[in-house]
Amino acid sequence: MAEVKKIAVIAGDGIGPEVVAEAEKVLKKTEEIFGYRFETEHGLFGGIAIDERGTPLPQDTLEMCQKSDAVLLGAVGGPKWDNNPHDLRPETGLLGIRKALGLFSNIRPAVIFDCLKEASTLKPEVLEGTDLIVVRELTGGIYFGEKLRRQGDNGEEAVDTCVYNVKEVERIVRQAFEIARTRSKKLASVDKANVLETSRLWRETVNRIAPDYPDVELEHVLVDNCAMQLLRRPSSFDVIVTENMFGDILSDEAAMLTGSIGMLSSASLGEGSFGLYEPVHGSAPDIAGQGIANPIATILSVALMFRLTFGYHDAAEAIERAVKEVLDAGHRTSDIAKDKSQAISTQQMGELIVSAIRK
Ligand code: IPM
Ligand code: MG
Repeated sequence: MAEVKKIAVIAGDGIGPEVVAEAEKVLKKTEEIFGYRFETEHGLFGGIAIDERGTPLPQDTLEMCQKSDAVLLGAVGGPKWDNNPHDLRPETGLLGIRKALGLFSNIRPAVIFDCLKEASTLKPEVLEGTDLIVVRELTGGIYFGEKLRRQGDNGEEAVDTCVYNVKEVERIVRQAFEIARTRSKKLASVDKANVLETSRLWRETVNRIAPDYPDVELEHVLVDNCAMQLLRRPSSFDVIVTENMFGDILSDEAAMLTGSIGMLSSASLGEGSFGLYEPVHGSAPDIAGQGIANPIATILSVALMFRLTFGYHDAAEAIERAVKEVLDAGHRTSDIAKDKSQAISTQQMGELIVSAIRK
């Protein structure tokens, strides 16, 4: 019998609970078919935790995650909490959980689904063959540096500090090289070394490590140029590695190349096999509670969890195949449907995928 894997489930806000419910059906189905065993536990996180517990990241939720083998996250945030003080914002909980769980690496694939090519704003011939991964440093840089408000000579000032040490750069870059090795063996390191000292340290570190990966072709790209090249020649990228803030921006751009942000999954990883998995899309408060959200990104996040944390490649493949089969058969949720009147619900999409999962 397979070992029981503990999965902490934090559904969060908006459409989070709706899409996570479908992903949990997928977990159940893979248990039945492949004999894997999962124990899920649910915790409060984000806006709902602020409402019910007075903090976006309650201690018991964090402990539940720390005791698990992996975390499945829906989405957090919404207009209700947008004007809250810093400590009482869902985003603060998100940054807190990344830091507390040591998740320094955020992996966001941007893949074109053939049957959804028209969903992109780019021309199909530009997109052809695009299959890239943004590896974003997640627990350093300007997100976590010292922040200040003070009185300056010309009135109120604000300061955000960007700090990186060599160790932080080295571990994320090595991980990106390793990932590149398993793919097309091409790595683009993105920085702003013509201006920023942190970027010069980044580039030096990348160059020092590169000889350990002679089989991987390395290019350095300045971040502004990268933003442009992503639109011009997306298919020439394979793995992109970059610091926290640049990665935040470029991963949104890369995700939207595919025209289907509702389809993309992501992983946040630390040193070991532990990981947090979530859809790239947000909590979509505008459509929450209507049962129309696309659950595919969250379902594919389960597949990513199987691959990266558990090494259950057979089940991961089965899920990905099932998603493809359902899409190929023409089923669409409203976000990706050409004819919205033909769109199916979150639950229908989830159930179609579950029934298409086979060994
Ligand atoms: C993301 C989000 C977060 C980030 C926000 C919600 C704090 O944009 O996961 O990309 O900036 O990291
Ligand atoms: Mg972002």
